[in-house]
Amino acid sequence: MMAEIKTEIARKIIIALDVKSREEARRVLESLPGARIFKVGLELYTAEGPAMIDLVKSFGKEVFLDLKLHDIPNTVAGAVKSAVRHSVSMLTLHTSGGREMMKKAVEAARETAEKEKRPLPLLLGVTVLTSLKDSDLEEIGFNHDSKNQVLRLAKLAVDSGLQAIVCSPQELEPLRAELGREVKIITPGIRPAWAEAQDQKRIMTPGEAIKKGADFLVIGRPITQAPVPGEAFSRVLEELQTAVESA
Ligand code: C5P
Repeated sequence: MMAEIKTEIARKIIIALDVKSREEARRVLESLPGARIFKVGLELYTAEGPAMIDLVKSFGKEVFLDLKLHDIPNTVAGAVKSAVRHSVSMLTLHTSGGREMMKKAVEAARETAEKEKRPLPLLLGVTVLTSLKDSDLEEIGFNHDSKNQVLRLAKLAVDSGLQAIVCSPQELEPLRAELGREVKIITPGIRPAWAEAQDQKRIMTPGEAIKKGADFLVIGRPITQAPVPGEAFSRVLEELQTAVESA
């Protein structure tokens, strides 16, 4: 029973495999036997391709494929089908691709998973990149400030069939209030109290983020670049366990 609870909590932590080669990815995987989900993003995927999905899976781990798809509906649907064939657990797409793109992505995932007997991945909507300030949004022609734009896109995503949203820790509370409990929320920008902020500006500790409604946390450097990554992972796990128990 204890082991099951531990696995369930470990599954809340997504380790960002922000490295540029297979060898480095392998080292991170070897250093974190307790982690359950690893995020393969644009850098590693562009360098090494789908073989990185197989590498993560060869360690018995789940893959979060963070390619932030954004294209015409037919093209995104094709990419989603390919991702389902690789049996990834999570996949990101830009909600600003619009309703039709998201609906086609959801349909493609369902059909392919069913037809080819693959697990149905969780499709995650990315709203407004946190690197964009309100003045940047205005420059590209968005008339809302970022908070309203995030809420607008998140609602559109859910309305189009997506069941999960990626957001910054600051957006957790308003999004949770707006979307209810059913929708999964994933947040990066996590820094344990004992870790350095590095280039992350609007940060939150793992415990706080869980209490404010996050289902999954994306954590990279505080764990992967710790002197002993396994120990850093265990500390985060303990913090989450306490947060979940006191929630
Ligand atoms: O090392 P660190 O914990 O900052 O890594 C966070 C991960 O989350 C990175 O892969 C980064 O690209 C991603 N991310 C982020 N902030 C966002 C969206 C994604 O830090 N707003």
